[in-house]
Amino acid sequence: GQEDAEYLVSLVRSVPGFPKEGIIFRDFMPVIADPRGLKILLKALELALPVKPEEFDAIAGLESRGFLFGPALAEHFGKGFIAVRKAGKLPPETIGESYDLEYGTASVEIETEAVSKGERVLIVDDLIATGGTAKAAADLIEKAGGTVAGFSFVMKLNGLPGIEKLGDVPVSSLISMP
Ligand code: PRP
Ligand code: HPA
Repeated sequence: GQEDAEYLVSLVRSVPGFPKEGIIFRDFMPVIADPRGLKILLKALELALPVKPEEFDAIAGLESRGFLFGPALAEHFGKGFIAVRKAGKLPPETIGESYDLEYGTASVEIETEAVSKGERVLIVDDLIATGGTAKAAADLIEKAGGTVAGFSFVMKLNGLPGIEKLGDVPVSSLISMP
């Protein structure tokens, strides 16, 4: 209910000036550190799922905070979990997808065998800001032969064209942050 939603928001720690000046970092670690927070979070993600359970086959979580609740959510719906990692962490064979950062580029990778042909994948992460990471993950899932069923985020940052970047796919986010 309303009380649970307010409790969840109250646990998000806002850190001005991290990782650089001008950014307010929205830290969701205190949410999962808190027993009630973690329970509310997982329940809220289940309820806000942007697609029906029968409309996806697996959950892909984005390193690193998508790893912290993605497997629990996957287990709840009787699915498996795919780890989308930052470049250079996985043994061969991998496939990757590059994306733009504020300065320079980064890449995400999965194991070549991680996605089967036609597999419908729900992508999860703690936060969408510019959407660059989530879009790269989506392109990667498709490059691997899967399809993106939707996206589920804990937080979205207002005032950034994040979700618009993801195209015509169902998206849910629990908390909007200024
Ligand atoms: C954060 C966040 C998302 C991404 C969102 O991860 O957890 O994955 O940035 O930003 P975007 O929408 O602008 O792409 P970060 O890159 O800090 O990596 P980490 O979780 O491994 O610390
Ligand atoms: N928190 C966590 N990850 C992020 C943020 C944030 O505020 N901004 C961009 N990535």
